[in-house]
Amino acid sequence: MGDSSTSERRCYDLPVPPPGKFITIEGLDGCGKSTQLTMLATLLHAHGMEVVVTREPGGTVMGEKIRKLLLDTATLNLSPFAELALMFASRAQHLKEVIEPALGQGKTVLCDRFADSTEAYQGGGRKLGSDPVRALHRVLCGNLQPDLTILMDSDVAASVERARQRNFTRARGNDGGGPDENRFEQESRGFFTRVRDAYCAIAEREPHRVVVVNARGPASETHRQIALIMKQKLKLSER
Ligand code: TYD
Repeated sequence: MGDSSTSERRCYDLPVPPPGKFITIEGLDGCGKSTQLTMLATLLHAHGMEVVVTREPGGTVMGEKIRKLLLDTATLNLSPFAELALMFASRAQHLKEVIEPALGQGKTVLCDRFADSTEAYQGGGRKLGSDPVRALHRVLCGNLQPDLTILMDSDVAASVERARQRNFTRARGNDGGGPDENRFEQESRGFFTRVRDAYCAIAEREPHRVVVVNARGPASETHRQIALIMKQKLKLSER
């Protein structure tokens, strides 16, 4: 399975492999990831699975502070390597505090973004390349690989426009007054095209782990595809 072979898929504090399933969802900003994450969590719960839903950057008290710093438009002139280091600081804490304990207890961890986001956004978008990202993942995160990654593939222009609209609405308080999480949405079309290209390269490199879903249609259709993948990969029964 390439990089996600059993010997590579280790945690520092757990037997190899840990008993729980680790599922990640990836995609461009505004691809509809949050909706699918909620629908998938509901589906897994309905099949009696104990699911821990979490996200990156964030997922811990410290990680949420790092998230604020990373996503706030008031964070100016952050160097690409500093950004990379902060993503990994959040992730290392998240692994130790949330992901590894849950997997060790046999729970299913459903994570909104993980290391593929770093390879796509910092490696591709910021042009740091995949090698430093993968090297840091080995050193700082024990090279833990998800059992399954859903990559929601969408059009760059439509997704980014949707993310910008959503964040604009939140910032105006129409959505209950959300945080300013716009820093990445201000990037150029070229940036997001590189992010998408890097995601596609990961999917090609690791087809056993990464399943690409067409996320251009209605949410119900995207969910139908994801539910089918779960049925095949996790052997879920029909409900
Ligand atoms: P998220 O809240 O998932 O944004 P959205 O709901 O718009 O998809 O993610 C926050 C942003 O952080 C997103 O623009 C992608 C970026 N990001 C990275 O650049 N590198 C990373 O390693 C992670 C986890 C996220």
